[in-house]
Amino acid sequence: MISQEFLSMISTPSVIRALSVYATERGKEIGYENVFDYSLGNPSVPVPKELTDAMIELLTTKDSAYIHGYSPNPGNPIAREETAKSLNKRFGMDYKMDHIFMTSGAAGAIAHAVRCVTSPGDEVLTFAPYFPEYNPYINKTGAVLKVVPADTTSFQINFDKFQEMLNPKVQAVLINTPNNPSGIVYSTKTIETLASILNEKQKEYGHEIFLISDEPYREIIFDGVDAPYVSKFYDNTLSCYSYSKSLSIPGERLGYVAVNPKAKDADKIVAMCCQISRGTGHNCPASLIQLAVAKCMGLTSDLSVYERNMNILYKELTSLGFEVVKPGGTFYIFPKALEDDAIAFSEKAKKHDLILVPSNSFGVDGYFRMAYCIDTEKVERSLEALRKFVKEEY
Ligand SMILES: Cc1ncc(COP(=O)(O)O)c(C=O)c1O
Repeated sequence: MISQEFLSMISTPSVIRALSVYATERGKEIGYENVFDYSLGNPSVPVPKELTDAMIELLTTKDSAYIHGYSPNPGNPIAREETAKSLNKRFGMDYKMDHIFMTSGAAGAIAHAVRCVTSPGDEVLTFAPYFPEYNPYINKTGAVLKVVPADTTSFQINFDKFQEMLNPKVQAVLINTPNNPSGIVYSTKTIETLASILNEKQKEYGHEIFLISDEPYREIIFDGVDAPYVSKFYDNTLSCYSYSKSLSIPGERLGYVAVNPKAKDADKIVAMCCQISRGTGHNCPASLIQLAVAKCMGLTSDLSVYERNMNILYKELTSLGFEVVKPGGTFYIFPKALEDDAIAFSEKAKKHDLILVPSNSFGVDGYFRMAYCIDTEKVERSLEALRKFVKEEY
């Protein structure tokens, strides 16, 4: 018999993907350039030339088995070594190659990190608003995801609610900064407070509480925003990174887990990840992309378009009367909808070919997300549709 568990998931597909499919279909009717598709976080800027050149060089000069063969279980040693060096240089850390495990994007990184530090039945706390894929990421490991309600005034952490929800079954806390969907970057004060609560609770409960820090937007930070490196503040941190957004390569599927060298059992976690891979069929990202990215360490795509788009949208949304906390990074903005029912709001927006994601699946009611990783020209053209939508519907 087929799995009833996965069968039942078919009836609750991702809202974001469903809207993206709708936008594509609508594009076939009226031309995709006329659909203001703010649904999907698919980077719009091209990869840096250096990465394309590195791939061409590898493909044309290296031995086939070297670039297309299996890489060792924890990842290619050059990629791991270069990752450790780059993190140490940028953030004053002390990673060795042995603390780095290469993965298929942040999704792969989180899948390994959670399995390393939880057992079925354990609780993992995360903070609203949160990336809805955390539900399958965590719940399919047997651990249970619990969501701390949002602090909607700042979208930093709601510490009162967090303290209420902490209990001895919590083995891990999962954070995402810069945040999808709010675009907010957790401040140094937020990370310090979080670290101090976790340190205190570890002592009280007599076991570690690991911090899983999901950081695919770490490089997309706007002017003047302080973006602390989370692992510097709390020893038991597993940083989950992805090159999907910083190098615009989500289809290449590359990321890593970086284990803080001071974490409990730091010397064993990467070896455990290799065993987890055997059970999940993950078996390492492609060798070619690991080698190419290792040659481009520290580089990013030209990410400036995202800040430009954010400023245009923030100005227009606030002048139209939307309540919105200004993003500090990413390519998302998360305004309050003009009615309590965000789904109804999003449906009305569709009439104006504006594709806005209702907030319910992010764990907050009454908001919507715009993914502005699209051309600035299109963002500018969408403003008229936005004005018309507000005027005619509200
Ligand atoms: C917050 C967050 N975490 C994880 C992921 C998954 O990243 P990847 O596609 O690199 O696996 C995404 C992708 O959009 C994301 O927004």
